[in-house]
Amino acid sequence: MKHGSNTEVNPCLIRVPSVAGILAGRKAVAVHQVTFVTDGREIQAPVSDDDYVLDAGVAAGLNLPYMCLQGWCTTCAGRLLSGEVDQSEARRYYPQDQAAGFVLLCSAHARSDLRVVTHQKDEMRRHRQALGLPTPRG
Ligand code: FES
Repeated sequence: MKHGSNTEVNPCLIRVPSVAGILAGRKAVAVHQVTFVTDGREIQAPVSDDDYVLDAGVAAGLNLPYMCLQGWCTTCAGRLLSGEVDQSEARRYYPQDQAAGFVLLCSAHARSDLRVVTHQKDEMRRHRQALGLPTPRG
């Protein structure tokens, strides 16, 4: 961060590069447009193939919830209205989650332009409970 800049870095969102990110450094990286539907607004942000969707939203100034940053706790859950994500880095993500449109933004890589509703933790937990899938506490 430059001195005198108004841009602050959230120290809780500092990450080491993912394996996918390191490998992606060897090839051309695609950039997709994400439309976050949040709190009655729609905010667009670019996200590259090797970045996480959550990070793109935070960089765009959105106050998005997160905790584990590993695709485990569901705190960052969103719901895809359109588009495709790679959720293979999530620690716990089920085919039923994908079928219902849920996405864990902290561990999701965009594979197309996206339109996603944020703040879906409670909805995702109800979905998992209804199907008898493990649901994190908290
Ligand atoms: S922050 Fe825990 S699953 Fe995304």
